[in-house]
Amino acid sequence: HRQIPGEKGLDHTLDLLAEGFHFVPNRRDHLQSNIFQTRVMGKKAICLSGQEAARVFYDNRFFKRKGAAPKRILKTLFGQNGVQGMDGEDHKHRKRMFLSLMTPDRLQELQTITQRLWRQKAEEWERAERVILFEEAEEIMCRAACEWAGVPLPEDEVKQRTTEFSRMIDAFGGTGARHKEGKRARERSEKWIQQVIKQVRSRELQPPPYTAAYLIAMHTERNGRKMDTATAAVELINVLRPIVAIGRFIMFGALALHEHPDVEEKLRRTHGEYARMFVQEVRRYYPFAPFTGAVVRKDFLWNGYQLKKGTLVIMDIYGTNHHPDLWEDPEMFRPERFRDWKGHPFSFIPQGGSDHYTGHRCAGEWITVMLMKTSMEFLTGQITYQVPAQDLRYDMARMPTLLNSGFVIENVKVI
Ligand code: HEM
Repeated sequence: HRQIPGEKGLDHTLDLLAEGFHFVPNRRDHLQSNIFQTRVMGKKAICLSGQEAARVFYDNRFFKRKGAAPKRILKTLFGQNGVQGMDGEDHKHRKRMFLSLMTPDRLQELQTITQRLWRQKAEEWERAERVILFEEAEEIMCRAACEWAGVPLPEDEVKQRTTEFSRMIDAFGGTGARHKEGKRARERSEKWIQQVIKQVRSRELQPPPYTAAYLIAMHTERNGRKMDTATAAVELINVLRPIVAIGRFIMFGALALHEHPDVEEKLRRTHGEYARMFVQEVRRYYPFAPFTGAVVRKDFLWNGYQLKKGTLVIMDIYGTNHHPDLWEDPEMFRPERFRDWKGHPFSFIPQGGSDHYTGHRCAGEWITVMLMKTSMEFLTGQITYQVPAQDLRYDMARMPTLLNSGFVIENVKVI
């Protein structure tokens, strides 16, 4: 066997917290290897990067997800017993529940809802002195998600619920207060959504049968039984929360427009195809999901390296999207690179790789692309605004990260 390159030291958790999105790419570059060994959170971990590594990482014969996510992530971002930690037929069955929501009709409906909400909000912004786009985008996404999913959202709860979803996402790499807030947000959110699940089951609430609230509440597992209330709530939150997450990509999209006036100009002139390329490049270029994890299912050999059963393996998402062997000038923002792009299941993996049905690739990728496209077309085609001087930096050590200013706009006018 070949020796897996590794770094010395007892534990590198502090380096992970200090380097964030660059932790894996820095070591891949330094060791000149797409596989290396480290120790984080008191555990040995093997890090993988690049297309061929992704191909093996998403091979269900060699990896499983049960036990991969640390407890602190289950208490904040994921929740207990959700689809992320399932394997085999049980996973495929649960996954189909999510994918059944993603039909063209249902996407169209979500788009229509979102367009209406952007327009309503923009009319309010005309009267406001300044607008923090990140916060507004998250709120619009939260309203759209709930309306589309058949989850009642009273007007006086909008801000609180949006903040709760946002904090669950923000807790990913957080320690201390950020972790605690994420945990509290999940507890409150689960309590709320458990009530919704109970009401749908008792018919006190009657959302249409094609909505997420209905389908998840009534979904039967492979054993013929409904999910327990807590698990059903975790899964309904797995639809709502990540739609709110799209607010971050919208914020980064707005930054891209601001920093690349030529790109903005093209987007204004040629919607459609160029908008699609732009959205892909935002998802590739800007940092959101840093990596994902799995556990080795059984001993196996990859390129002469032995991976041992039970080992934690970290797949580098950000670094693969910036890998110098896969992308020309990876640190340049260039939508044109996606012009004749046919798609590749293992090299462009902002929301996971491989196949949506058989693997753990994000169930909401189509929604994400559609809502970003809709939102960017709105920002370039339906309003005008100015971008005042502000702190537009973002911290690559923070996971997930955001612009220090949240992207402030002024003088908004609806066209
Ligand atoms: C899984 C990213 C939006 C639902 C994932 C994974 C990533 C991801 C990295 C894990 C892939 C893996 O472990 O292999 C994102 C990002 C989003 C987004 C960056 C946008 C900002 C959405 C949306 C939905 C959604 C809009 C649903 C409406 C899910 C679900 C899973 C998942 C259910 C679990 C899939 C499984 O374990 O089989 N996402 N996602 N995501 N995502 Fe998303």
